[in-house]
Amino acid sequence: MPSRKEPFRPSNTGSSKRLKIDTMQSIDTLTGLKQVIREQRVSGRRIGLVPTMGNLHSGHLELIKAARLSADWVVCSIFVNPMQFGAGEDLDAYPRTLDADRERLETAGCDCLFHPAASEVYPQGLETQTIVSVPRLGLEHCGRSRPGHFDGVTTVVCKLFNLCQPDLAFFGLKDYQQYLIIQKMVADLQFPLEMIGVETVREADGLAMSSRNSYLTPDQRSQAPALYQTLMQVRTQIEAGNRQYGALEESAKQHLIAAGLTPDYVAICNGDTLLPARPTDSFLAILAAVFLGKTRLIDNIRLTLPD
Ligand code: PAJ
Repeated sequence: MPSRKEPFRPSNTGSSKRLKIDTMQSIDTLTGLKQVIREQRVSGRRIGLVPTMGNLHSGHLELIKAARLSADWVVCSIFVNPMQFGAGEDLDAYPRTLDADRERLETAGCDCLFHPAASEVYPQGLETQTIVSVPRLGLEHCGRSRPGHFDGVTTVVCKLFNLCQPDLAFFGLKDYQQYLIIQKMVADLQFPLEMIGVETVREADGLAMSSRNSYLTPDQRSQAPALYQTLMQVRTQIEAGNRQYGALEESAKQHLIAAGLTPDYVAICNGDTLLPARPTDSFLAILAAVFLGKTRLIDNIRLTLPD
């Protein structure tokens, strides 16, 4: 298992290490991308990649900020990847806000936006597409409710790594299962890059920022912070010495239901393997997903217990 590193944490003193002079490039073809990547590689700049599906919020921008701090040239991809959406999921409804995203990226100091069409990324369609699949890690939790989802994620991220040839790739810890799966893909396929995890950016009331928050009605929005509050309560109990993880998961679900949310799962896991936590495990991840109407929200917190 790859070693655990401290995640990037936002700091309000963190000024970017270089001045931004050029305007951002905006590219939508593979040919155009290949050319700029070649230029960056020839000039020896360290390429930082931030893969996204757009509708950018402050969570995404924190990844850009982290990338600017450690890479010489930052490319952000915006691609609503059809391969990671299941039948009946929100592929068509997924918010697409390219003009606003472009402005946000430019202001954040991103060097290049790559926003290909599906025909560029999947020229032969999805039926015969080679699938990159990380075993085991993607079967439980979100993988159980969204079969095939993580194969879609790893396949597109693998393509983005090949196309953008990053030295550094930035992912949010909000999607912790996704982060671990991509980390395993990087290790197993020996991608010559370093992955950097960025801590979850939250609204003032604790709700993790997500493009899907925009689906919430005002009532649902006022209920949604219960997800993070419940995770924090579980954490407090564990820190107080409670190791009855099954019972803690059950009472967390009851707490979510009482707050008007429909739990999909609550899982107290080993933070590296995402297997059910044993009382002797010291690095833990508490993962949860809930439905508010049709909207599915996920969140997690990680904690290290003293020996
Ligand atoms: P998307 O949901 O757009 O998220 C892009 C990146 O932003 C992911 O690494 C995600 O973990 C991170 N992110 C989202 N919300 C965040 C928050 N509140 N705080 C910190 N980081 C946050 O995740 C995907 O897209 C896709 O699956 C992708 C990896 C791009 C593959 O298609």
